[in-house]
Formats: sequence, structure tokens, C-alpha cells
Amino acid sequence: MKSLLSFGCGNMAQAIVEGMNKSSKELEYFLYTPSNTRAIELAKVVSGTHVADLSKIPECDFYMLSCKPQQFEELAKSIKGKLKPSATIISILAGTTTETISKSLGVSKVLRVMPNTPSLVGAGVNAFYFTDEVGSEERHFLNDIFSGFSKVFTFEKEEEIDLITGFSGSGPAYIFEFSRILTEKMVSMGIARDIATEMIKWTFYGSSKLQLESSDSSEELRIKVTSKNGVTYEALEVFKGEGLEKIVDMAIDAAYNRAVELSK
Ligand SMILES: NC(=O)c1ccc[n+]([C@@H]2O[C@H](COP(=O)([O-])OP(=O)(O)OC[C@H]3O[C@@H](n4cnc5c(N)ncnc54)[C@H](OP(=O)(O)O)[C@@H]3O)[C@@H](O)[C@H]2O)c1
Repeated sequence: MKSLLSFGCGNMAQAIVEGMNKSSKELEYFLYTPSNTRAIELAKVVSGTHVADLSKIPECDFYMLSCKPQQFEELAKSIKGKLKPSATIISILAGTTTETISKSLGVSKVLRVMPNTPSLVGAGVNAFYFTDEVGSEERHFLNDIFSGFSKVFTFEKEEEIDLITGFSGSGPAYIFEFSRILTEKMVSMGIARDIATEMIKWTFYGSSKLQLESSDSSEELRIKVTSKNGVTYEALEVFKGEGLEKIVDMAIDAAYNRAVELSK
């Protein structure tokens, strides 16, 4: 049995730890948060142990950095020199490089992960970057445990993590925003809110499932829904005319620039 201590138990850590716990019984969990509440709650869900303060940190095989990037400096000061030296650090901090983590904590074995929240329902996407010091046994273990609740993609260059952040990390927010806009429009046109909400959720779910199960590209699938001068065609023409592709392009560039800025 291996052990993992998560420093921070917010939305993302909860999704990952619960995902790990559902898919495997090979890990024992220790949970810490400064205000205690969320660590106590998560400890109950995964039958883990709540760590009340950082004066004595349990010896674990993995330590997961799950606070906000701007809270890391304070956390690093409290834990540097207190971690089991052979442990691997798992960092989900957006835009924080393995170099910063290694220097701040005096460690060399780091897995940098860019997760996303659908991990909560066993359908996450996790992008991995390992420092050279992480051995193959740990790599396989971590790959297996994350694969139990997500698709794992391992990148060889750390810069690629900044590149994919605005896609898989932020992607769920784009989908939820598009879903919100469609739902609100449907309600404004007279459809009951509960019906509109369910119809749009199922439209997104069904389209994603079809896309995953079909060998057609997304463009081919779109063409199959679009007859020339039909209803869908009219809507897509507005997307095209008003520059949806350009807007998406600009949004992704803005997300990427922010990821690079955070990495500095
Ligand atoms: N949310 C996403 O979709 C997403 C996607 C990709 C990456 N991420 C990354 O995931 C990380 C966590 O994001 P989140 O959305 O889960 O944040 P969150 O919900 O705000 O949770 C942050 C957690 O960190 C704890 N914390 C605060 N200061 C701390 C300290 N000094 N030491 C240890 N723990 C501390 C908080 O404790 P309290 O409960 O006591 O306040 C809280 O449990 C971020 O680095 C973010 O970049 C998030």
C-alpha cells in the first residue's frame, strides 16, 4: 500500500483524490488544508486521515501540491525539509514549473500535472510531465492510478504543459459557458428552465459520446447535421460571419499568454 498526502483539498484535489479512490484501493490518503474543514470532509469520503497542522508531516510516497499557485510560496516555507526525501511530488499548480517546485522544496522527483474537473465523474483529461529523476516504477504507478478516472497524456517537453492548459485544463469552462448561453437563449424563447437545462446537457453529452464512438472527424459529424440552407446551416453561417473561429483563436492565445506569464 502506498500513501499520498494532499496539501489543499479544493475542487481539483477533491476530483483527483475521489477519482483515485474510486478506481483503486492501492493508496492511503492524508489530507491537509489550513482551515481544516475541506480536509476533514474529504478524509471522510475517502476513509483517509486528516492532517491537522504541518508541524509533523507523515512520511508518504507521494505529496500532492493542490493549493492555488499564489499560495505555494507560503506552503513551501512550511514544508521544505519535512518531506520524505525519496517521495515524488505531484503538482497540479497551473503555470508553476518543476524547476520552481524543485528549488522551493529541495526535491528532484516531480510530476507536473494539468488536470481538469471531469475527473470527478471518471472522465478527466490529465497531462503529465515528469522530471528525469522520477523512476519507471513510479511513472507506471502514477499512470495507472490516474488512468482509472481519466485519459492520461504524457509530454516530453515541459513547455507543452503551458500550451495544453488553455485546451484541456480550461476546456470544461468553455463548454459550460456555451451550455449556459444556449440554455438562457432557450429560456428567453419560452421553454421552461428545467427542460431547457436538461435538453442542453443531454445535447452536449450525446454529441461528445457520438464524437468519441464515431470514426468520423468532428467536421464530418458537423456536415452530417447540416443540410445546405437548412436550420443548422443558417446558425453556422452566423458563427462564420461573426467570426467564431477568430474569437476562439484569440481566447486560446490569451489563455496561453497567461499560462506562460504564470510560469515565469
Ligand atoms: N479548478 C480547475 O479546473 C483546475 C484545472 C487545472 C488546474 N487547477 C489547479 O488546481 C489547483 C487548485 O485549484 P482549485 O480550483 O482546486 O482551488 P480551490 O478550490 O481554491 O482550493 C485550494 C485549496 O488549497 C488550500 N490552501 C490554501 N492555502 C494553502 C496553503 N498555504 N497550504 C496548503 N493548502 C492551502 C485551500 O484550503 P482551505 O480549504 O482551507 O481554503 C483549498 O483547500 C490550482 O493550483 C489550479 O491551478 C485547477
